[in-house]
Amino acid sequence: MLRRALIAGNWKMHMTVEDARELAIRVAEAAKDATDRDVLIAPPFTAIGAVAAAVAESAVTVAAQNVCWEEKGAFTGEISPVMLKDQGATAAIIGHSERRQIFQENDALINQRVAGALRFGLAVVFCIGETLDERESGQTLSVLEEQIRGGLKGVAGAEMADVVIAYEPVWAIGTGKTASTEQAQEAHAFIRRLLQELYEKDVAEQARILYGGSVKPANIDELMAQPDIDGALVGGAALDAESFGRIINYK
Ligand code: PGA
Repeated sequence: MLRRALIAGNWKMHMTVEDARELAIRVAEAAKDATDRDVLIAPPFTAIGAVAAAVAESAVTVAAQNVCWEEKGAFTGEISPVMLKDQGATAAIIGHSERRQIFQENDALINQRVAGALRFGLAVVFCIGETLDERESGQTLSVLEEQIRGGLKGVAGAEMADVVIAYEPVWAIGTGKTASTEQAQEAHAFIRRLLQELYEKDVAEQARILYGGSVKPANIDELMAQPDIDGALVGGAALDAESFGRIINYK
């Protein structure tokens, strides 16, 4: 296959260190036979070190849920890419819709985070997605285009090897509503065409585009059967070892 699948779990603001360690061990166990795909988990900052240690002997890798762009300095409340790497993280989720909506992060700020992560050698899971209003008023594709152009501004084609894009329609996150496989495939194909316009054909062909928004054991197989869906970013169902294990082992 052209692209290696990636199943990523976003634990959001859940889990004490001890609970995180236990879940991480169970995820590593569930992932042990899934050798043809990548598995990434994103615990809260406080549990990154413990989770990285717990999965160190496995193929599971660890991401943060956000990252600052500077190595150190007067950035109260932020965590630097160097600190994350020091704790064992190899990637960071950036631009999640909860960051955009609840914490007012805009494309320019997100772009700074993306550039900073890449500069210090952290891979990026760059999230985009339209709201329900935007979808209903026919703006889905133009919103995705604006978010990609803004968020990836200045990112070179060669750096795109370390960027995964996650398409997460805001109206499908945590709501139990999944985009239909057709809606998801349409958005993913559009994103890939745009990448081809912004970069080169092989960058677009190699870019992994994840779907996120109420992914669960019941819909993962169908989603993964779409030609432009290369994986999933999973929230709620990633907090349950059994559900996430089934998602990792999609057929
Ligand atoms: P959900 O969250 O799977 O709970 O819808 C997905 C996400 O926010 O990444």
